[in-house]
Parts: sequence; C-alpha cells; structure tokens
Amino acid sequence: MAETSPYVVWHHATVTRARREALNGHRPGVVWFTGLSGAGKSTLAHAVEEALHRSGCRTYVFDGDNVRHGLCADLGFSIEDRTENIRRIGEMTKLFTEAGVIALTAFISPLRADRDRVRQLVGDDFIEVYVKCPLGVCEARDVKGMYAKARQGLIKEFTGISSPYEEPEQPELVIDTSRTDLDESVRQVVELLRARSLVPA
Ligand SMILES: Nc1ncnc2c1ncn2[C@@H]1O[C@H](COP(=O)(O)OP(=O)(O)OP(=O)(O)O)[C@@H](O)[C@H]1O
Ligand SMILES: [Mg+2]
Repeated sequence: MAETSPYVVWHHATVTRARREALNGHRPGVVWFTGLSGAGKSTLAHAVEEALHRSGCRTYVFDGDNVRHGLCADLGFSIEDRTENIRRIGEMTKLFTEAGVIALTAFISPLRADRDRVRQLVGDDFIEVYVKCPLGVCEARDVKGMYAKARQGLIKEFTGISSPYEEPEQPELVIDTSRTDLDESVRQVVELLRARSLVPA
C-alpha cells in the first residue's frame, strides 16, 4: 500500500462521536459475521438488522456479493485479493462506526489474519460472530449451486473445497446454524449487542 503523503492532514469534525451517540440513542459497532459459504451469514445479518432497525437502531449490512459489484469490483478470489477485499470493507465499517452506525458484515472472510487486522483497526467496537456450520450441511444447502460447481472443478479457489477457511480462535459469539434456528440465532446476537449497549435496553 502507498505511504500517506505528509501533506494529507486529518481534519477534525466538530460533531463528535459522543454527540452522534446521544442523537442516535445507541452505540455504534461492527458485527462481523464469518463462516463458510451457505453457513447463514447473509440470512442472519439481515435478520439481525431487521430486529435492530425495529428497535430504533441505525444499521447497515455490507454483503459479500453486493460489495463485489462496486467498491471491490476489481478484486478476484486469490488470497491477495481476498485480503484486499477485507481490508477495504474493514476501513468502510470503521467509517460507519464513526458515523454512529451499527455495521453488520456478511463475508466468508476465511483468513484469521485478515479478520484480526479489522479487529485491530476497529478496536473495542468489533464483535466477531462465527456462523459455524459443518461443510457437509453447507454443501447440502448449496444455496447458490456453487458447491456442486466447485466439486466439478468449475469454480477455482472455493472456500472449504479448494481454498482454506480458518476458524476464529476467540470470537465474541459462535452460532451453529445446523443446530440453531434463525429466530434463536437472531435472539443470541441481539442479546449480545444489548449487553454491550449497542441496542437500547
Ligand atoms: N440459524 C440459521 N441462520 C441463518 N441461516 C440459516 C439458519 N438455519 C438455516 N439457515 C439457512 O441456511 C442458508 C444460508 O444461506 P446464506 O445465503 O445466508 O449463507 P451465506 O453464509 O451468506 O453464504 P455466502 O457466503 O455464499 O453468501 C439459508 O438457506 C438459510 O435459510
Ligand atoms: Mg451471503
């Protein structure tokens, strides 16, 4: 990455984070869902957003496929490109927390180092939710028909089949979607966010 020019100077806002929090009535944060394709990240992130929005929270979901249409349209699925993809999303989510928003992300984000870099960047507002689901169940769901194509060798570098997935070591929450239904999964995430004051009591 290019070094920042010494002539680029940070301009401080007068509308501070504390003022945004007071206006919104809740704390911002990044709820980072990670897991295999088909594990349930998008389903869960959007269902949690629905619940938070109904509770009066300002939210936004960053979803893998959507981001790749625009912000990250130039990136592929090599390890280098996946790292750059997550770096950009991480920076975006940080800006969203500064704007007072609860950012929810639904990216496979298979590499621990990439996720940990975002954790370091975002700091205490980073909440990692491991959407855990056995590969066999994800493959049986095959929501997008991609596992079948990956098994046929039609999709290269497919996570879980021909590209690695590194489980989080200390996520804030683990949800096994092969054993937990969607309502209960949402409840567990919202409860955690309530405990951390992201959702008003
Ligand atoms: N507890 C649960 N939470 C979320 N999804 C669940 C749960 N139980 C079953 N499912 C089902 O699992 C599937 C998950 O698909 P989804 O598109 O959300 O996965 P994803 O992790 O976003 O995959 P991708 O990385 O390919 O975008 C859906 O069909 C959903 O209905
Ligand atoms: Mg998804």
